[in-house]
Order: sequence, then structure tokens, then C-alpha cells
Amino acid sequence: MTAPRFRPTALIHGCDYNPEQWRKVPGIWDSDMRLLNAAHLNGVTLGIFSWAELEPAEGVYQFAWMDEIFERLHANGQRVILATPSGAKPNWMAESYPEIRRVGEDGRRRLQGLRHNHCLTSPVYRAKVRQMNTLLAQRYGKHPALLAWHISNEYGGYCYCDLCKAGFRTWLQEKYVSLDALNDAWWSRFWSHTYTAWEQIDRLDGIHGARLDWKRFMTHQCASFIRHEAAPLRANSPDIPTTVNMMAGITWYDYHALGREVDFISWDSYPSWNGQQGENSPHWHLGLWTTFWHDHFRGMKRDEPMLLIETTPSQVNWAGVSPLKRPDVHRTANLLGISRGSEGVCYFQFRSSRGSSEKYHGTVVSHDGRDDTRVFREVRATGELLHALQPIVGSLPRAEVAIIYDYQNIWTLNEMESPVKQALNHTSTCIDHYAPFWHSGVGVDVIEQSADISRYRIVIAPMLQMLLPGTAQRLTAFVENGGILVTTYLTGYVNETDLCFLGGFPGPLRELLGVRIEEIDALPAYRTVPVTATADNRLGLSGTWTARDACELLHAESAEVLATYAGEFYAGMPAVTRKATGRGVAYHLAARLGHDFYNLFTAALLRDAGIALPFGAPLPTGVTAQTRTAADGRRWMFLMNFNETAVTVAGATGAWHDVESSAAMPTTIELPACAARIFSAPATSPRTTTP
Ligand code: GAL
Repeated sequence: MTAPRFRPTALIHGCDYNPEQWRKVPGIWDSDMRLLNAAHLNGVTLGIFSWAELEPAEGVYQFAWMDEIFERLHANGQRVILATPSGAKPNWMAESYPEIRRVGEDGRRRLQGLRHNHCLTSPVYRAKVRQMNTLLAQRYGKHPALLAWHISNEYGGYCYCDLCKAGFRTWLQEKYVSLDALNDAWWSRFWSHTYTAWEQIDRLDGIHGARLDWKRFMTHQCASFIRHEAAPLRANSPDIPTTVNMMAGITWYDYHALGREVDFISWDSYPSWNGQQGENSPHWHLGLWTTFWHDHFRGMKRDEPMLLIETTPSQVNWAGVSPLKRPDVHRTANLLGISRGSEGVCYFQFRSSRGSSEKYHGTVVSHDGRDDTRVFREVRATGELLHALQPIVGSLPRAEVAIIYDYQNIWTLNEMESPVKQALNHTSTCIDHYAPFWHSGVGVDVIEQSADISRYRIVIAPMLQMLLPGTAQRLTAFVENGGILVTTYLTGYVNETDLCFLGGFPGPLRELLGVRIEEIDALPAYRTVPVTATADNRLGLSGTWTARDACELLHAESAEVLATYAGEFYAGMPAVTRKATGRGVAYHLAARLGHDFYNLFTAALLRDAGIALPFGAPLPTGVTAQTRTAADGRRWMFLMNFNETAVTVAGATGAWHDVESSAAMPTTIELPACAARIFSAPATSPRTTTP
């Protein structure tokens, strides 16, 4: 059976809709239907937290209200993304089956309350979920309004109950077969942790290999839970695609593995727009970071559309300080998602809850119930804009550059106890490398280390401490075939069970990079080291830059040296190296350098890779551009300013027309604070790459 693909026929303008909260308020569903249309909302996510209203007592089901809502929505023109309600279990269930409640690392069973607090291993919980999902799928799986399945909500967290631990031990036995092999893989003779019976594997403190495998096991459990949830959905509605909503910067599970369990990727985006300012965190950083996350989630299924499935129409309630979005921010943030491959924009939530913890969260319809509010107008304008953008449906961003952002590697970095631990900042380091591409309007896929990289011209692997089996071979083949690879300090130190490579770092990449790393210096915040370009270096770099935080002391064995340290006792040692292999080149950056270096270096890489910049040169600070291309070659370019001040963009070329005004793109474009413009161009030549 082929998996269904997510192919909406219109851009989705949707919202979480929780009508069950309002069942006792007469007339409110009528008003909802009117307001959904008035806001130009064409889709809703239904039933995410409805379990107690669908099954108020064990085996007692009440679907009548959902039946009615389905019919009303259908008649009203909305499509439904139907959720399975497993993200929050009813009180009666927690009371009757205490074993489904999650156990903390301290061994104590959690009380019922909040949400996302169930055990993913528990056979009882799995049986209950299977029963509920089967009923939902049988009842609504063939409903014409059904667009997609939203499985659970924001899977996250761990359970340490006896069932989970027993499951972990079984998983380990299958993986390692013998305790001897496990002790070797975990280096558990250290501190006398040698295991002599499987039952001893209980607490995981201090053993990095064990903690790494625990996260893999929890990912495995979550993946199997998703499969378990999806089975009745797939059986009853084989044409309806499934998704799980993911979160930025959350590392409980390997999201790439979870992404493989569903048909399309969706994520929840909540940047603190207009709440970030200052020299070290200007407002445009939010645009930069949010784009990185879009590229990360899209990068999980690179040839498929994704969905921005949750974002707030105005403020969030949980950020401490969450300013109102300034004019144009809502529109630009939504267009950012569309530009990076989202087939729509959905909000949390439609109508403000009257009580409980999210009553002050931003919504489309506030407690006043009105449609003449500023937020409502902005939402409606987004709906109109998405409607005008219909021709874009099915087009995709295409990237010739990839950055590796790999959960298993991140786990080893987070667990790492090393002299440079305090300065790791892995995500912001990835974004430091990503920023020059963003400012150049050059698309990037953010991918896991085991992804196929043969389609790219440039691959950046920041701090890829852990190399999984096959990664070094793939990177080598990539370079041999003409690719440009960039690695940094802290790359190639440990294997898949977190054991250091023997014989010198960067382990299996030593030949490809042509360097041997001997030591790493950790720099406190007050200490920096100058780095200077070598004369006539092959990349044409010139200047002096500043290294911070971490400086590897390495030997160029077969690499050329492009820059050296110009300070400290290691002055003269290589800081930037280059080695050609086959038709490609591998660069190694031995130290953390600043934006001035990354900008220059990236410009040289783009030039060497023959990747054209849409505006001929990098865009003004805080501005980015992204193009979506249709199968027939038509293109749409989104130009977005994330500064809280106006900018002017010059240098545009090509037959672009403003989508909204139809005017030809001017050579100089004025972009007000936080504003975006959309341009389209006809096909120049048929696209040759096939998804
Ligand atoms: C999301 C969650 C929603 C809602 C929202 C509030 O993480 O999935 O249910 O709580 O946050 O910002």
C-alpha cells in the first residue's frame, strides 16, 4: 500500500478548534461558523484534547456532538484535520489504571493533571488509544471534510516506570546480545559500572552510552506508539495523510525518526515577535531562527510540503513578556512559513477559552466574541492573501546547500563533559553558519547526518562530534563527487556509542580533511585569539578575525592552510584548512570565528559552487529572500524584512512581478519595518530535478 501524500488543493488557513468546551453555551457554534468564514479560515484541527468529552466514562461514548460539528464544518466549507486525543487522558482513566501515569526519573508516579503525562509503553494505555482511534477512524475516516490526521499532540518527555525500564532492557538485549558487548559499548568498566546482570540496568547516571541508548529507546517507543495510533487510521482511511506536530529546539526524541512514521511534517512555531531587541539579539534574529526551524522541519521530508500547524494570531500566554505583534509582523511571519514550504498557516486557537491556563493566550476570536478587532482583521487579511496565493500550491523551495542538525549528535553534545562544554551553544552555532546563506537569499535544507546528501553542492557539518556508521563514507563520496564540505572544531570525536575514536581526531574523517587534531583550547569569555589568512590562499581570503570559545590545535597532514592562529602559544598553527579530494573540497574550521569570517567564507563557497544570489549580493542585515518553484518552472519569491525599521533592497534582476500589485519588480525595493513582498516569475526553463 503506498502512503498517502499531503496534497491540499488550497493553502490551508486553519486553527485549533475546541467546540467541546462550549457545548453548554447556546448559539456559540452558530456564531463560530459565521466567524470562521468571516476570518477566511478554511480548515480546523478538531478534537486534540477531547477524550473526556468523547468517552466520559469507560466504554461510554458520545460522538453526537462531534458528528454535529463535522457536519456543520462541512456545510460551512471547512476541512477538518482530526486529532487523536491521546495527548491528554481523562481523569477516570488515570484513576482506574494508575499504571498509565508516567513515572519520573526519581521513581515516583506522577499525579493526574496537566497533559502529556502518560506512559508510551503501557499496554493498557495502548489498548485504550487503539480503541478510541478505531472508533474515530470508523466514524470519520471517510468523511468528505476530513483532510488529515493529527496524531496526538506534541509528543515529548520520558517515563521511567518498570515497564519502560523492562522494555529498555529487552531493547538492549536485542541490540547488544551479550552484556559483555554492552559493557564494551558503554565503557562501563569506568567507575566500576560493569554490568553482570541485565536487571542491573536501572539508573543511567554518569554513563553516557547508556543515556544515549535510553534516548534512542524512548524514540523507538514513541515511534512504535505513533505506528500503534496510526494503524486503525490507516486501515479505515488509507487515503488520508497523517502528521504529528513537532516543536523547535526540543530534543527528547530524534524527530527525524518520528518524521519517518508520518506522511507529512508539521510544526508549532511561537517566536516572541517584537519581544527581542538589543545588540546581541536584534529583532531580525527571530526571523533568522524561525527560518532555520522551518528549514529543519521541511528538511525531514525534503520533497514534500509541510504545514505550519500552530502559531499564535497575537500573543502567547506562557512567555512572561509577549508583546502584541507590531503591524505587518503577522503577515510576514506567515509568509515566511509559506516561503519555506508550508502549505498553509494554522493558529492556536480559534476562540479564547473562558477558563484555565490558556484563557489569555492569543486567539482569532477573543472573549469579546467580535469580528472587528485588530487581530481578527489581520487574520482575515492573511486568509485573503493565502487565497490570492493559490497558484503556489504544490510548489516547493529547492536547496543546493545543507546544514547537518542531527539529534543523536546533539544528545552526545548535551551530555558531554568536556573543557569546552560551557561554550557549546550547538543550535546557535549552526545558525551562525546558516545566517550568511539566509542573508544571501540562498535556500538551505537542515538535515540529519544519515540523509542522502548527493543532491547538494555545499554541506556544512557544525560540531558533528558523533559520526554514525556510514557518515564518514557518505561525506567522502560527497566530496569525491564534487561537493564542498565544511566541518568545524568538535567534529569526528566519538562513534555511535559515544566512544572516542582512537588514533586521533577527527577519526574516520582524518584522511578527507587532511588534519590531525591534537588538543582543544577552551577560551573564557574574556580571552580571544586572532586568526589571520595566509598569503595567496586558494579561497582568496584576506584579513584577521577573532576566535572565541574553542580553538583546536591541529596539524595539517595533507591539507592546505588557509588561515593560522596569530596569538597564544599556538600562533602559526592552522585555524582554517582546505583539502581537495576527487572533484570536491573539504574545509575544516578549527575555531569558532565571528560573523565577519563566516560572511566572507560563505561568499567564497557560493562563488566556487556556482550558486547565484537572487539579488547578486547579500541582502541588507535582517532581510531574507526565498523562492518556491513549481513543477512547471514558475517561481514565487518572498522578500522579507525582519528589522523593526525600513530597509531598501537593491540589485534585483529578472522578470519578477509583484503578486499583489502586478507591477514589475523595481530595481530598488522599499520594505517598511517587518514587511514582506511577494514576486512571481514565469518559467524560464523546465525544471530538470524530479522530487
Ligand atoms: C502548543 C500546544 C497547544 C497550546 C499552545 C499554546 O505547544 O500544542 O495545545 O498549548 O502550545 O502556545
